[in-house]
Amino acid sequence: MKFLAQPGGTLTGEIRVPGDKSMSHRSVMLGSLAEGVTRVHGFLEGEDALATVAAFRTMGVQIEGPTNGELTIYGVGLRGLQAPDRPLDMGNSGTSMRLLTGLLAGQPFDSTLIGDASLMKRPMGRVITPLEKMGASISSGEEGRPPLHIKGGRTLTGIHYDLPIASAQVKSCVLLAGLMASGKTSVTEPGPTRDHTERMLRGFGYTVEQTAGVISVEGGGCLQEADIDIPADISSAAFFLVGASIAPGSNLLLKHVGMNPTRTGVLNILELMGADIEVIDPREVGGEPVADLRVRHAPLKGINIPEEFVPLAIDEFPALFIAAACAEGTTVLSGAEELRVKESDRIASMAKGLSDLGIVNHPTPDGIVIEGGSMGSATVETFDDHRIAMSFAIASLRSTGPISILDCDHVATSFPGFAELANGVGLKLDCQ
Ligand code: S3P
Repeated sequence: MKFLAQPGGTLTGEIRVPGDKSMSHRSVMLGSLAEGVTRVHGFLEGEDALATVAAFRTMGVQIEGPTNGELTIYGVGLRGLQAPDRPLDMGNSGTSMRLLTGLLAGQPFDSTLIGDASLMKRPMGRVITPLEKMGASISSGEEGRPPLHIKGGRTLTGIHYDLPIASAQVKSCVLLAGLMASGKTSVTEPGPTRDHTERMLRGFGYTVEQTAGVISVEGGGCLQEADIDIPADISSAAFFLVGASIAPGSNLLLKHVGMNPTRTGVLNILELMGADIEVIDPREVGGEPVADLRVRHAPLKGINIPEEFVPLAIDEFPALFIAAACAEGTTVLSGAEELRVKESDRIASMAKGLSDLGIVNHPTPDGIVIEGGSMGSATVETFDDHRIAMSFAIASLRSTGPISILDCDHVATSFPGFAELANGVGLKLDCQ
C-alpha cells in the first residue's frame, strides 16, 4: 500500500489518536502475569500490540478482545505461563521482543523469539548482556540479532545493572526478569527514559522502589488484577502536533493525550521552535498524566535540540525533522545515535526523503543538521518504517506538489486508521 499525499491543506477539528503503544504492551504482559481478571480500556489495536497479545495466548493466557479498545485478560500468575508450542513471532515490535526476553529468561520452559525482516536485524545484545549476568542462557543469531533461543529452567539472581544506554526497553527487560529472580534487581539509567513499566507495576500492586536514581524490584512477589486506562499515544499525536504547527490556518484539538513527563520531549522541542500548543485540563488517569492539547499554526524557527530531550522524544524525531524542514533557519540534532537502530535507520531514512523533497540536510553519526526550506514533489521511500511514512504524509501540508510515499503497510503497527483519521481533519491522503 502506498500513500499519495496531495499538497497543502489545514488541520482543524478534534481527534483522539489511538492508545499508547508502550502502555498497551505492558498491560498485556502484566495482566497475563497477574492474579485475577484485568480489564484494559483504550488498548492500541495495532499490529505491534497484537503481536504481544498473540504471544501470551500461545503461552496459555486467555485474552478476550480487543474490541473497541477493550481487552480482558485472565491472568495466570507470575509462574503460570505455559511452554509455547512454536516460536513466538513479535512481528515488527522491538518492545515485545526485548521485554518478553526478560520475562522468559526465568521461565521453566525453552522459548524462541523471531520477528519480521526489520526486527531480525535489530540489536538484542543490549538485553542479553544483563540477563546473562542474572544467570539466563540465551543464544542469538550473528552479532546478537534474533532469533533468540531462551533456555528454560535457569535460576535467576537479582543484580544491579548500570544501563550503558538510555533505553526503557532494556530497563524494563531487566526489571521484568527481576520479578522471577531471587533477591533484589536494580538499575540506574544514564538519563530518564519512559517509566511506564514502573508505574504499571505499581498499578498492579507490585512494589517498585526508586531512590537516588536507583530503581529496584524484589523477586517473587505477586501482581494483582487491575483496571488499566490507556491514554492516546503522544507519539501518534506528534504527527498532528507537527502537522498543525506547519500548516497555516490550522487549529486542532487532540483529546486525552498521555503526558507522562518521560514522553513529552516533543512538546518541549516544538515549544523551543516557537510552536503554539496549549495544554488543557491536565489530569491523572490510572496513575498516568493526561491532557487535551490545542495546537495552532505558528511560524517555527530552527534550534539546537538540547541533548537531554533526546530520550524523552526518541520516537518523535521523524516528525520533528519535518518541523525542522518547515522552520526558518537551521536545526541541529546530536546525541541521537539510537535513531540508527529503530525500525529503520531513521537518520538515513529521513535524510534521503528530505533530500528527495529538496531540503538541504547533513546526517551525522549521532544526528542530523536540517536547513529549513521549501519542499517540492517527490516519491519517497519509507524503508518499511511506520513513522517515516506518517512523517512524509504530514509533510504534504507544506509541500508544493504531491508526495508519493511507498510501502506504507507498516503504519498499522502503531497507528491503525491513520489515513482516515488524518483525512477527517484536513490531510489529503489517497491509499493506493
Ligand atoms: C519503548 C522504548 C523506546 C521506544 C520504543 C518503545 C518502550 O525504545 O523507542 O518505541 O515501550 O519501552 P528504547 O528503549 O530502545 O529507546
